[in-house]
Amino acid sequence: MTNGNEWWRSAVIYQIYPRSFSDGMGDDGLGDLAGITERLPALVELGVDAVWLSPFYTSPQKDAGYDVADYCDVDPIFGTLADFDAMEKRVHELGLRLIVDLVPNHTSDQHRWFQEALASAEGSQERARYMFRDGTGDTGELPPNNWDSVFGGPAWTRTIHPDGTPGQWYLHLFDTSQPDLDWENPWVREQFRDILRFWLDRGVDGFRVDVAHGLIKAAGLPDYTPPASGGSMGGGIVGLEPEIVANAELDTPTPPYWAQERVHEIYRDWHSVLEEYDGERVLCAEAWVEPLAKLARWVRPDEMQQAFNFSYLETPWEAPAMRKVIDLSLEAFTSVGAPSTWVLSNHDVVRHASRLALTAENPQGHGIGPKSPGKPVRELGLRRARAATALMLALPGSAYLYQGEELGLPEVIDLPDESRQDPTWFRTNGERYGRDGCRVPIPWEAEAPSYGFGPTGKSWLPQPADWEPYARDAQRGVAGSTLEMYRLALAIRTQHDLGMGGAEWLPGYGDDVVAFRNGGVTVIANTGEAVVELPIGQVLLASEPLGDGILPGDTTVWLRS
Ligand code: NOJ
Repeated sequence: MTNGNEWWRSAVIYQIYPRSFSDGMGDDGLGDLAGITERLPALVELGVDAVWLSPFYTSPQKDAGYDVADYCDVDPIFGTLADFDAMEKRVHELGLRLIVDLVPNHTSDQHRWFQEALASAEGSQERARYMFRDGTGDTGELPPNNWDSVFGGPAWTRTIHPDGTPGQWYLHLFDTSQPDLDWENPWVREQFRDILRFWLDRGVDGFRVDVAHGLIKAAGLPDYTPPASGGSMGGGIVGLEPEIVANAELDTPTPPYWAQERVHEIYRDWHSVLEEYDGERVLCAEAWVEPLAKLARWVRPDEMQQAFNFSYLETPWEAPAMRKVIDLSLEAFTSVGAPSTWVLSNHDVVRHASRLALTAENPQGHGIGPKSPGKPVRELGLRRARAATALMLALPGSAYLYQGEELGLPEVIDLPDESRQDPTWFRTNGERYGRDGCRVPIPWEAEAPSYGFGPTGKSWLPQPADWEPYARDAQRGVAGSTLEMYRLALAIRTQHDLGMGGAEWLPGYGDDVVAFRNGGVTVIANTGEAVVELPIGQVLLASEPLGDGILPGDTTVWLRS
């Protein structure tokens, strides 16, 4: 039951990507749970309400932990369950909430369930946990259907019997090392109820659910050829100027592996598991689904609480498109009584301080590297990112921040090929750079080795030599720094309760302007180049210095209404 006032409706939630946040164990240049515990006060100072942790579970790390080998333990590279408990205790002592990642679509191929399945006969109960199928062609030499993996290459891998002869194929929508579970199997559903309870009993406040649109596949696994420009985690069309799909277009064709109607019964089930617990626990869907009206089905009152608004993330920095996506979002989510969950960056997309200044098409997940066309101008990207964040944080609803965006970090474009680790890079033979550029360990101290990421000076992906100005200690207390802009925005957001407010469009501005009132705050964002005259009013926040009564291009201002 909802009372309309729950914390997650307006919360600002900070995504920690554990391997790149802080190396507290000081062993290997890889972040860990001890590092998180130590650095939590910085997040309180920033003013966020909660943290979401990407996976820290036992894993061979073929996809940076999204290949889970044990859902109920911590990988030794991140620490132990005791370290988890200590971290969680500290999170709560500091008045924050804690959301952990849940990866139900697939396991690691090293998970005991899959190893047992491989060792068992075709047609066995163990095999029924996953999507094993006979091949096609005369001798089963061809995959069961034509589906491609999100990371490139086919979505099927053939098994080999112990005697060396080829066997059945198994489905993996992602890497070969990430076999898809069969969610038609009640046994699988039972396991995940237990996993939810394991972490709920430990006291987590909720789960971000990985690939929440993918668990159920269409009966018969029919062939499917995606439209040429598809390419994101969900097959949404992602380019520089994506079409924003109108809410009325609910019957847009759905690939047979995404957004199948029956996936919702799983979330209704999980909703009731969460209801066994007090304290407003939450499920947040990572579902790349369009239009927004369809995505809103994930957050109907008896399903999840939040769903990342990726349509918003993918919208170019152009006022008409921004106004449209905001309208469609509020319409869609309001119709089911849910908040919109705004987001601009995460560990799968080009950081918005770079993305918003790209000048060539860049499908989500492809990343940018030395040979990419349309590389961004850094100053312009940061300027737009600050303006875009100031706009996002004034909108009603919840918002997610990705570690490092509060420092204005750009995407790292010139990573050496040999340091890249994203399976996308390997599965496409370097044709797609993948997501490593947004995952580089973040800088804490300008003067310290590895910018204070850890005591050894090591860092699992190399940090750029020119990151000193981005370090937290270089920005702390410096008026106008990106860090201080975020802090101020979050403080004003809380003070005016903007997350629980509304957005009333203000007429009379040009095409390049997004202008609305949220309670006591007037928000004006100028996505164009020409200056805009400001109404009289006390300036609460400006993403760049203002002229006298003038809003420059690529700038957002908050005024007291
Ligand atoms: C979405 C996650 O955010 C991404 O990092 C991962 O590679 C895929 N799901 C597969 O788990």
